[in-house]
Amino acid sequence: MEKRSFDTLIIGAGGGGLRAALQLSQAEARVAVVSKVFPTRSHTVAAQGGVNAALANVLPDNWHWHMFDTVKGSDYLGDQDAIEYMCRAAPRAVYELEHFGVPFSRLETGKIYQRAFGGQSRDFGGEQAVRTCAAADRTGHAILHSLYQQNIHARTHFFDEYFAMELVQNQDGYFLGAVAMNIADGEPILIEAKTTILATGGVGQLFRTNTNALVNTGDGMAMALRAGIPLQDMEFFQFHPTGIAGKGMLITEGARGEGGYLLNGDGERFMERYAPNAKDLASRDVVSRAIATEVREGRGVGPNRDHVLLKLDHLGADIVKKRLPGIRDMVMTFLHTDPADTPIPVYPTAHYTMGGIPTDRHGQVVVPVQQGAEEPVPGLYAVGECACVSVHGANRLGGNSLLDILVFGRAAANHVIEQLKEQRYHQPIPGDAADVALERLARWNRQGKGESIAALRAQLTKAMEDHCGVFRNEDVLQEGQQAVLALRERLQDAYIDDHSQVFNTARIEAMELENLVDTALATVSSALARRESRGAHSRIDYPERDDQQWLKHSLFSLEDLKMDYKPVRMKPLTVDSFPPKKRTY
Ligand code: FUM
Repeated sequence: MEKRSFDTLIIGAGGGGLRAALQLSQAEARVAVVSKVFPTRSHTVAAQGGVNAALANVLPDNWHWHMFDTVKGSDYLGDQDAIEYMCRAAPRAVYELEHFGVPFSRLETGKIYQRAFGGQSRDFGGEQAVRTCAAADRTGHAILHSLYQQNIHARTHFFDEYFAMELVQNQDGYFLGAVAMNIADGEPILIEAKTTILATGGVGQLFRTNTNALVNTGDGMAMALRAGIPLQDMEFFQFHPTGIAGKGMLITEGARGEGGYLLNGDGERFMERYAPNAKDLASRDVVSRAIATEVREGRGVGPNRDHVLLKLDHLGADIVKKRLPGIRDMVMTFLHTDPADTPIPVYPTAHYTMGGIPTDRHGQVVVPVQQGAEEPVPGLYAVGECACVSVHGANRLGGNSLLDILVFGRAAANHVIEQLKEQRYHQPIPGDAADVALERLARWNRQGKGESIAALRAQLTKAMEDHCGVFRNEDVLQEGQQAVLALRERLQDAYIDDHSQVFNTARIEAMELENLVDTALATVSSALARRESRGAHSRIDYPERDDQQWLKHSLFSLEDLKMDYKPVRMKPLTVDSFPPKKRTY
């Protein structure tokens, strides 16, 4: 098998992976980035509305207010040291982007354009803040392309269209790289590294209707799970309030930030009832539940009363064209209407994985060692949506995910740079290190007759949508867990279709489904175990938040589907804690 050696291997070429790679390459580390798609097709490209930073370009603002909003938005499950770190670092992260060439929209003053987003306030819960820095509604596209170009300039090495299959570790549990498959020829390659950073994004493809790229199949999370690392807080999955109804594509929260609002079938601005102050700019969990409730109670729109409307026509065509050109194009393409004159039918759609691989604020993967204490896993880091650092807790604020990838991509890289100074040589790779990956590859070499991978995937995403959606309860979750376990069993006997014309892509779809099934199990099992409602996890049988019993992070392990828990890091770095309070908007 071909073998290549680098100082650092980064798996995933979205914003988190590329920000980390850039920092490392600029420090003259030898960096390899493995990406299953061409890097600029990574899912960061789809981020629309913007990145949060308290620049105060429009209204007064500061990082401490941003921190308060993020802690409150997380329903107090976010780790406050990491949240302080992120919010303080935000302005510098945005100015760095400006210097990397990101073409931010501009205010008349020439400063970076900022818009209002959900859950933002001034003065610790006061009036609406305006904190989200935007390049029209194509902010992720602008950031990803700029970071890619900077990496090419810094001579980062890319393995484009390689699929990472398994992590490699030695007997002492030290991570030493990964085995990947070259999608073009199906050949495996061992990429040896002194440190490995997982940056593979989230797992939105768990749900049938979602905003995510097809590639978001939780590959890094599943590799970590199989390597014995538990996943944290997987029950918290964000449903974005405004996906195009029935299709799922994202209509940015920026549309409401620009002044758009929601209407039910009676023509009522229903958010006034659910969030009297913030209204349409309440945090996402609140708005998604409100829409789902309107529909359940028969106040939806359309022949089946199964969605609500997002009204933008009062903003005027100029604003829609200038500030929201991407969503206008999308709506015109898929619905054949112009949002500048016709409201958009919307319904909550699966969007973001708050849980993931547990890390500290340096991006080091951590595992519990004894009651309440944890230890870094040697050689392994995780950043971005595949990680749980945890700055988003039970509910992420819009605009904080681009910030997360920038801040923690950079922080992890800086930590790795220090580690590399102490570690001049690679550790020996055990002779059998690649065996698990090669067995997996061999398993998906077989063509023949049997259950189709595509059909199993469709059943999995339907089961997750039916059993693990916006509202949950014990019976439905239990059925969901059984459904996922049954699909996991059936996948053992699945084959790649004889008629598959694109054999290597079919093999990757099979391995992606294995990853989806394992992360689905983590999600539904963690949701079943948590008997309270917090943030995006809304149990109709346990409707209240229960801080006495449940102000703690969950940890799911594949072995025996074991659940464990660990405390929330309530202590910030330099300021006082924000203790849990009733959360209203
Ligand atoms: O609505 C949006 O533009 C999405 C932003 C985000 O998820 O942060």
